[in-house]
Amino acid sequence: MKQIRIGLVGAGVVGSNLLQLLEKNRQTIQTRNQLDLQVVAIATRTPSKIQHLTQIPISTDAKSIASREDVDIVVELVGGTEIASEVVHSALKNKKAVVTANKALLSEKGDELFQLAFENGVEIGYEAAVAGSIPIIRTLRDGLSSCEFEVICGILNGTTNFILTKMEEEDWDYGTALKVAQDLGFAESDPTFDVEGIDAAHKISLLASLAYRSKVPFSNLKVEGISKLKSIDIQASKSLGYRIKLLGISKITNGGILTKVHPTLVPLNHPLANVMNESNAVFYKTVEAGAGMVTGKGAGGLPTASAVLADLIYYGSRIRIQDKILENNSYPISKKSREQENKVRNYLRFSTLDKPGVLSEIARILGKNDISIASVQQKESEKEPVNVIVVTHESNEGNFAQSLSEIDKASFIKEKTVAIRLLENL
Ligand code: HSE
Repeated sequence: MKQIRIGLVGAGVVGSNLLQLLEKNRQTIQTRNQLDLQVVAIATRTPSKIQHLTQIPISTDAKSIASREDVDIVVELVGGTEIASEVVHSALKNKKAVVTANKALLSEKGDELFQLAFENGVEIGYEAAVAGSIPIIRTLRDGLSSCEFEVICGILNGTTNFILTKMEEEDWDYGTALKVAQDLGFAESDPTFDVEGIDAAHKISLLASLAYRSKVPFSNLKVEGISKLKSIDIQASKSLGYRIKLLGISKITNGGILTKVHPTLVPLNHPLANVMNESNAVFYKTVEAGAGMVTGKGAGGLPTASAVLADLIYYGSRIRIQDKILENNSYPISKKSREQENKVRNYLRFSTLDKPGVLSEIARILGKNDISIASVQQKESEKEPVNVIVVTHESNEGNFAQSLSEIDKASFIKEKTVAIRLLENL
């Protein structure tokens, strides 16, 4: 039986779950995969939290693990881009395979790390970095490797999906829902990464790189989170036949790859609309295989640890086979700005005085900017300022930006107008 020696760096929520899962599944993995996975070294900032899970000595020196002679695979679960980057660089230079859940690191420094891995004849496994337990990396890299992608988009952050679900179903406020998500171990250590869409942006940049076999740098993405959303937007969207989801979207346009993250009105009958709580989903459209979606738990210690362990089994079995991920660069990154390029429909919520001429002024400015209105809603029971909700037909993003900057200057507008894009025709 092949023995694979593992050095674990970082033993927080995911790391401690991994130790337990390895123990529980040891025999099954030996029988099924002819693989004996042995953790031989651990480094964590807080050894006392995992002392009860293991017999081996626990160090606080993360970097030393990457150069140990008796380690074949380094599992990096530190997170962030500082110590993690040093650990991964050192491991690769020492010709050790790396398994990581670190989307920020790969999204920001993946280019140089995959190159370094290639030069040293080792691999980087990152199934756990995108959408937790969902095997989307392998689905894109292997299962759909014969396909040309038109679009890939998804619900890629469990925390924000949990918050949106609870705000809708339980009528919780935003703060309560975030606190529960943090208590359940879904959130990043800095929750702004979740709620401002940065975590989802890291993930969609990795998926897009793989789907299009091209570089899709994180720095190129336009990102909006959910912190500006209010309960009224969630309820009003539902009455219009939509559910708001934070989507990471990457598609091929005439100019190249266009990748972005923003809250989106998804029709209730679209499969993405029914992905609830901390679940994630990735929806894709390809030329050859058509459309499909994979869904499952995208956050939480045990689901994420299950993906780390799957990578350990996979890379442990393959060790020393080379695999260069980003090879072709088939598509350029779109040079045009999203505003010039992208046509969208929008949900607009104006907070306005209820007096003559307001609606006609809003309609005039929208019309002047080539935006056609599809529906208008105002509830008679509301007190001033009232919410006027307009759903539009398609127009350029730049036309919306121009209109809203004009409309928001009017004295009858009492709050910055909320604009949420509708899901494009997928
Ligand atoms: N904070 C992330 C989420 C965890 O909420 O999805 C998994 O990346």
